[in-house]
Amino acid sequence: MLDWTDRHCRYFLRLLSRHTLLYTEMVTTGALIHGDQRGDRERFLRFDPAEHPIALQLGGSDPQDMAQCARMGADRGYDEININVGCPSDRVQNGRFGACLMAEPRLVADCVAAMKDAVAVPVTVKTRIGIDDRDSYGELLDFAGAVTEAGCDALIVHARKAWLAGLSPKENRDIPPLCYDVVEQLKRDLPHQTIAINGGIKTLDETQGFLETLDGVMIGREAYHNPWILAEADRVIFGDARRAPTRNEVLDAFLLYVERELAKGTPLSAMSRHILGLFQGQPGARAWRRHLSTQAHLAGAGIEVLTAKLPPEPRP
Ligand SMILES: Cc1cc2nc3c(=O)[nH]c(=O)nc-3n(C[C@H](O)[C@H](O)[C@H](O)COP(=O)(O)O)c2cc1C
Repeated sequence: MLDWTDRHCRYFLRLLSRHTLLYTEMVTTGALIHGDQRGDRERFLRFDPAEHPIALQLGGSDPQDMAQCARMGADRGYDEININVGCPSDRVQNGRFGACLMAEPRLVADCVAAMKDAVAVPVTVKTRIGIDDRDSYGELLDFAGAVTEAGCDALIVHARKAWLAGLSPKENRDIPPLCYDVVEQLKRDLPHQTIAINGGIKTLDETQGFLETLDGVMIGREAYHNPWILAEADRVIFGDARRAPTRNEVLDAFLLYVERELAKGTPLSAMSRHILGLFQGQPGARAWRRHLSTQAHLAGAGIEVLTAKLPPEPRP
C-alpha cells in the first residue's frame, strides 16, 4: 500500500507474523529503470532479510520494462513479483498502468509472459472485478483467463470494481460495492488458478470462511490499523503451534530495529507512524498513540518516545 507498507512497516508487521506474505508499495518501472541516475532504485528495492516472504509490486505495462524490473526484484531476493492492475489514480492512468489495464488483457498477458521468462519466482496479478462499464463477469473471466494462460501464478482480486473517472482512489476503495460472490465464481470457473480475495476483510474468522473456497486472503487496511490481527494468523491460519508474541514483546523487538535505524539517520517518525495501531482496543492505547503522534517528529526524538506512556500489559 502506497506510503504505508514501506520497509519499516513491513519489518514491524513481520515481528507479528512469520508466515503472512507481505507486499511492497507499488513501485513503477520508470522509477526502477531510471532510478539509478536519481539514486532511488536502491531505496525502492531495499528490504531487510527478516521481511521474507515478501512480494514486490510493480506498476507498468511495457512487457520488456516489466521483465527487466521483475529481474531486478528477483535478483534482489524478492519471493514474488506482482503486477498492479487495481490502482485507479489519475497519475497511474496517465502512465498506462494500474486498473485501466483491465481493458487490455492481451497487454497484461504479454507482461506476465515476459516476466515469467525473466524470473523463476512466482509472477502474480492484483486486479479488480471490473472498471467503469467494462464490468461484466464475461470481461473479468476473459481478463483472468488471458493472464492465466500467459503463466500468471496467482490472481489477487479486490472484490469491487473501480470507477476510473469520477471517484478518487480513496472513494474507489469504499464506494463501489464488494462482490465476494464474483471472486468465488471466478475460482469455480478457473479451478486450477490460485485465487486470493481482497477488500473489506477484517477478521480471521472471515478469512477462514473464504479459505474454504478460495486459496488466499489479502488484508490491507485492517492489517495496517489493527496489526494485531496478524499475530494470531500464524496459529489460526497457518497452523503454527508456537505462541504468538505479546504486544510488548513485539515492541521490544521493534525498538532494537529502531535503534539501528536511528543510528543510520532514519527519523523516528518514519518508523513510529506505522506502529500506532499496535495497542488498538487496549486500555491506554489512545494516550500512547497520541504521545507518539505529537512527540516522534520532534528534533532529537529517540526510542524513549515509544516506551513512555506505554499501555499496561494486558492480561492473557
Ligand atoms: C493507503 C493505501 C495505499 C494503497 N496502495 C496500494 C498499492 O500500492 N497497490 C495495490 O495493489 N493496492 C493498494 N491499495 C489497495 C489495497 O491493497 C486494497 O486492495 C484495498 O485497500 C482493499 O482492501 P482492504 O479493504 O483489505 O484494505 C492501497 C490502499 C490504501 C488504503
